[in-house]
Amino acid sequence: MHTGAREHSGPLLFPVSAVLGFGAWGIGGSAWGAPAEESERLAAIALARERGVVWFDTAPTYGDGESEHLLGRALGPHRSKVRIATKVGPRDDPRRSLEQSLQRLGTDYVDLVQLHEIADGWEARLETLHRLQLAGKARAIGVCNASHVELSRALRVAPIAAYQGPFNLFDRDVEERLLPLCRESGLAFLAFRPLASGLLGGGFSESPGFSDGDHRTKLYWFRGAEFARRHLVIAKLMDLAAGLRISLPVLALRWLLSRTGVTIVLAGARTPVHVADNLTAQDASLDEATSREIDAAMRSAFRLPAATSAAAQEALGWGPRERFIVEHLDGRSTPEAIAAAWTDRGDQPMVAAQVKVFADQLLASGLAV
Ligand SMILES: NC(=O)c1ccc[n+]([C@@H]2O[C@H](COP(=O)([O-])OP(=O)(O)OC[C@H]3O[C@@H](n4cnc5c(N)ncnc54)[C@H](OP(=O)(O)O)[C@@H]3O)[C@@H](O)[C@H]2O)c1
Repeated sequence: MHTGAREHSGPLLFPVSAVLGFGAWGIGGSAWGAPAEESERLAAIALARERGVVWFDTAPTYGDGESEHLLGRALGPHRSKVRIATKVGPRDDPRRSLEQSLQRLGTDYVDLVQLHEIADGWEARLETLHRLQLAGKARAIGVCNASHVELSRALRVAPIAAYQGPFNLFDRDVEERLLPLCRESGLAFLAFRPLASGLLGGGFSESPGFSDGDHRTKLYWFRGAEFARRHLVIAKLMDLAAGLRISLPVLALRWLLSRTGVTIVLAGARTPVHVADNLTAQDASLDEATSREIDAAMRSAFRLPAATSAAAQEALGWGPRERFIVEHLDGRSTPEAIAAAWTDRGDQPMVAAQVKVFADQLLASGLAV
């Protein structure tokens, strides 16, 4: 489409106030450790639907098609009452990928098809998604995992209706630029990993050793300094949740549902027990005092160190990204602000995780205090 772009993003599909959606990665049966029984995973989907969940988010890669397949089986008889979002991989042929998703889902359209990642040639893929939308294969199109610079560009390429990005109590990059951009542009914001991939389920008293093939072995917050920081905060959050007579995941989901600009919180769950617990977040409430305590716990655990003058000297010989971080490590700036300021320059995106990991390395080598 391109010239002018973003004309008709599709019908009004998205809720006006934030709701819980069903994140269907885990029910795919792989990449999450031992899979729950298929009957249990089907029951989790069925319970979510019965209790009023409308949006179900999946992807061809979740369980290598199994997530879409199970959703198709569980939601087929209720197709007109639910909304299904799937994705197209950054290197996949959008037409073929969506056609195969539709077959697995047993439907002739999805409500939202999203470009899963930004990679070379993404603009052309987004244009193809728009053509598929015009052909009636998808009611709306969107993108996931784009930086704010890339999302601004996407708005000029095609009439996207939604953006999906990571957002939870700990991972708050999107607050800097992406959420405001979605609000200004009238895009629905779909928050993924609202429980930090299960960390906010509260079951990890020490850094977990996941089995081979569990994607969480690659997530930096399940180990090292970041796990230790998050663990400290989780102890505090658990006390706050207990005081409100809710579980930790419900506290985390309620917090997200209350963030301005969030449209759908995609809570992942593999069992009906988790679905039932998570749904109580919609009726829970967080008072001002609790919200302030949450913020204070976060601030104290995640204060970045300041770079030393020796670091500034050494950084002269480092790459531009590392130099940028050192220049901005003043003991006051947040990792999210530093990452967003770098990304503003438009070359390569950076996320807070990279700042935190690098700051930990400086700290360990005495180049930050
Ligand atoms: N666009 C993207 O690139 C992208 C990336 C990631 C996720 N997503 C989407 O976002 C959805 C949600 O993210 P996610 O599934 O990765 O992670 P998540 O929602 O942050 O965490 C889900 C995990 O948390 C645990 N959990 C859930 N409810 C619980 C409860 N009440 N009590 C205790 N533990 C609980 C479960 O772990 P156990 O099953 O191990 O108990 C569950 O599998 C995905 O399903 C997917 O639809 C999109």
